[in-house]
Amino acid sequence: SIKGCIFDLDGVIVDTAKYHYIAWKRLANELGFDFTEEDNEKLKGVSRIRSLELLLELGNKSVDDKTKLELADRKNNWYVEYISKMDKSEILPGVENFLIKLKENGFKIALGSVSKNALTILKNVGLIDYFDVIVDGTKVINAKPDPEVFLKGAEGLNLNPKECCVFEDAIAGIQAAKKCNMKVIGVGSEEILSDADIVICGFENVDIDILNFT
Ligand code: G6P
Ligand code: MG
Repeated sequence: SIKGCIFDLDGVIVDTAKYHYIAWKRLANELGFDFTEEDNEKLKGVSRIRSLELLLELGNKSVDDKTKLELADRKNNWYVEYISKMDKSEILPGVENFLIKLKENGFKIALGSVSKNALTILKNVGLIDYFDVIVDGTKVINAKPDPEVFLKGAEGLNLNPKECCVFEDAIAGIQAAKKCNMKVIGVGSEEILSDADIVICGFENVDIDILNFT
């Protein structure tokens, strides 16, 4: 049975997916091409540098490695500026309540995000104390769909992967969870996240007994 939950951050706990999107779009526009919400789906859960590479492919641009780092930095500086203004009001509806219920019922809680900005965000929105373990982009080598981030989460919680349930809004994240035999609840659109065990549109009115169905 499920003993712990591993949460993705961007797009699951907070709507930072929108800030990633506007920052990437701003970069694409500066480089002279457009970047749509549909394009953005492929970047969710993907590391910063890999996201940049995918974006450059979409725009048919090729640049040297030094320029890549410079462009990734440029995007991140905008992103950091956006998230510096975040507070509690940007926690997605129902999330904090869900975390409280998990705690009350003895479930362990981990963060499994490849973002290097994860700690800043959790601190800004005041959720950091709910997490027993935080695995972020500073602790992993491989981004999703590699399962490293979730395996490290389970290990930190002292649980078997089979005892963990992942909450994910990204296709790459669902693939990562599946690769290590974890149950996965998609957060978002059923159409996009069809590989998840179940899909919820958010945490509002979602009870922790949802873990029994997985
Ligand atoms: C998450 C997001 C991605 C983002 C990645 C790296 O996985 O879903 O959109 O590119 O983290 O985030 P960072 O904050 O380190 O650039
Ligand atoms: Mg996400």
